[in-house]
Amino acid sequence: MKHIVIAIDGPAASGKGTLARRLAAAFNLPYLDTGLLYRVVARRVLDHCGDPSDAAMATRQALGLGRIDLERGDLRTPEVDLAASAVASIASVRAALLDFQRDFATSSGAVLDGRDIGTIVFPAADVKLFITATLDVRAERRFAERRAQKVATTLEAVRADLAARDEADRTRKAAPLRPAKDAHVLDTSTLDANRAFAAAADWVNQALAKR
Ligand code: CDP
Repeated sequence: MKHIVIAIDGPAASGKGTLARRLAAAFNLPYLDTGLLYRVVARRVLDHCGDPSDAAMATRQALGLGRIDLERGDLRTPEVDLAASAVASIASVRAALLDFQRDFATSSGAVLDGRDIGTIVFPAADVKLFITATLDVRAERRFAERRAQKVATTLEAVRADLAARDEADRTRKAAPLRPAKDAHVLDTSTLDANRAFAAAADWVNQALAKR
């Protein structure tokens, strides 16, 4: 039987990571946070004192990326947030990361979250979800995460970072952030994690029942 692939896309801090992890546990699937791939590329460019918009350098780093790099503890800083968004707009970086993402799901299926999973990486995914929430709600969530990580920042700075990345992700030429035509759209602005999970699990069960 073909393994199931669940594609989850949406803007920053929309709740897609939490949802993806819970779906992966519930349906016994491996989980890949594809944002980490772009974060690693950005981190490696910064480690070499490079410019994240330098296509040749960023592509070299993308081609040299391995699974172990995803375990680095320095991928979720505000500096990496912005650099990740910059490397993610480079078409050759995205192309270099495609095989890694597709191979990840080959042996047992997977849940993947990102910006272009349902549109580009797995256009034939069994279930596609597009997770949204208002900018204010997302900023509050990300600010709480940053505080828990003891990162010194303000709600205004977090909000500005999210707004800038959303704009860059939505308007770039290469794989812009948008829902796939056949995606289920879930607005989590007023949904807690349990209710978001319940709605998504229903869609997954419906897809499984049709196979
Ligand atoms: O966790 P958060 O939602 O803040 O971001 P992320 O998912 O870790 O992604 C970091 C950046 O990588 C995003 O701002 C996007 O520019 C980029 N990205 C992408 O272009 N395509 C993906 N499939 C995943 C992330």
